[in-house]
Amino acid sequence: MVSDNLGDFQTPIEYTAKIVGFLRESGVSPDTIIEPTFGTGNFIKSSLEGFENVKNVIGVEVQESYVRSLREELRTLYPNLRPRLIHGNIFDSQDKLLPPKSARDILIIGNPPWVTITHLSKLNSDNVPSKRPESSGEKGLDLLTGSSNFDIAESILTYLLETFKNHHVTIAMLCKTTVNQKLLKQAKRYRWSITNWEFLLISRRVFGVNVDAGLIVIRTDPSVHGDPSNYHCRIGELDLTSKERLHYAPILDRDTGWIQLNGRFQFVFDRELYRQYHHIDSKKSYDWRQGIKHDLSKVVVLDKLHSNGEMGLYQNQNGEQICLENNALLPFLKGSHVYNYGRRPHLYILATQRSLSENPLEYLRDYPMALAYVTQHRHMFEKRKSRVYKGRPLYSMFGVGEYSFAPYKVAIASMYGSPSFKLISPIENKPVLMDDTCYFISFDTYEDAEQVLKYLNSEEVMGFLDSIAYPLDKRKYKMKVLKRIKRM
Ligand SMILES: C[S@@+](CC[C@H](N)C(=O)[O-])C[C@H]1O[C@@H](n2cnc3c(N)ncnc32)[C@H](O)[C@@H]1O
Repeated sequence: MVSDNLGDFQTPIEYTAKIVGFLRESGVSPDTIIEPTFGTGNFIKSSLEGFENVKNVIGVEVQESYVRSLREELRTLYPNLRPRLIHGNIFDSQDKLLPPKSARDILIIGNPPWVTITHLSKLNSDNVPSKRPESSGEKGLDLLTGSSNFDIAESILTYLLETFKNHHVTIAMLCKTTVNQKLLKQAKRYRWSITNWEFLLISRRVFGVNVDAGLIVIRTDPSVHGDPSNYHCRIGELDLTSKERLHYAPILDRDTGWIQLNGRFQFVFDRELYRQYHHIDSKKSYDWRQGIKHDLSKVVVLDKLHSNGEMGLYQNQNGEQICLENNALLPFLKGSHVYNYGRRPHLYILATQRSLSENPLEYLRDYPMALAYVTQHRHMFEKRKSRVYKGRPLYSMFGVGEYSFAPYKVAIASMYGSPSFKLISPIENKPVLMDDTCYFISFDTYEDAEQVLKYLNSEEVMGFLDSIAYPLDKRKYKMKVLKRIKRM
């Protein structure tokens, strides 16, 4: 049974056997196996087969049919075993998960669901933890637009580390690379007694899905003080193809997590690089801004076909051609245009407001053609789904203010692999606006912008960005990364 809200895809038995083999070779020899979301039970079966000393088996699974069939199977295969297979929600099973006092070597093994809380809430699911991990520190648009979304696997791993904080355990679970990063980040708040942390990337062939994932292996020892300096891991691999190894080259063999320097803890992507460039890390950064958010490219982003004095002929992305006042529009760059600045033709944007405090459409009253065009597309504005528009006037946009209209900007396209800052100058004597995948600093003069551009593109700043930005992040150079760059 495949149930969307339960993240139900089972790990193939050949693969659970491979993971058990790998753990055995690394010296893991448990007497107790705990599988928090066991599904068809392949991890339990492979553990019973691959580890010699297993005496206790404890598992939880929310789908009853799986529980029944695994009980049957184990009764036949291991008549002397008394597995504790619980039908229920892992988040309600804290006490039932705890092993007998005689347990010495506990292995928590499995593959928790790979679904996000946003996905679950869309499905109106009750398969959610009662307590969410705290916010990831995202602010502003980044928070509202969902980069703060988290996986249920992150909650399950947090829950397990909390439940077993007084036990000596090895945790070996499959999860997305982003879950590993977020868990590492959270560890400092919880002060878990971790002695060793590894993350081993797995091939995408295992599940046939386009997701970066791996095996997280954590060892705990309650007698060890929860020291944040231990919350870091080297990223290795379990079974990548040579093509995948190339894809993962930017993260393979990096040592990622918390580092203590000059008495302060910092969370970084590459600890070695950070040691070299940490002098750039500062709370005193520039006034970074995010580009305009409108979610309506089809209507408000246009090509200019022809211009005649004050009027121009524009074409929107639906192919409609419209006559508009040239002064109602501003030159516009998408992230790809900023990244390849100078090479690509630019577009125009019909922004509905010039600042967040101004009522949408207010300034368009001076431009009747533009105003009519926007209001004719009212239904498109009504259809915008992002929650940033909830409770805001109908034609609202975000990421506009006085700073958007400064003549010069030093900008970066956040979704591109290597950092490269660009100096954006006015086009046709008008300030240039960018989309919300871009971040920028505004300047009144070209000279000031040029000086900062030189600094931001220096080897030092580039090295620093490489040390803190996570290469597999979709939005790699986001606000909270850029805000760490020290002012010149
Ligand atoms: C990705 S599957 C993996 C199953 C198994 N661990 C494996 O590796 O093959 C996730 C399993 O978690 C179960 N599940 C989802 N939410 C759960 C919850 N809150 N408590 C317990 N089990 C849950 C699903 O029914 C599904 O069988």
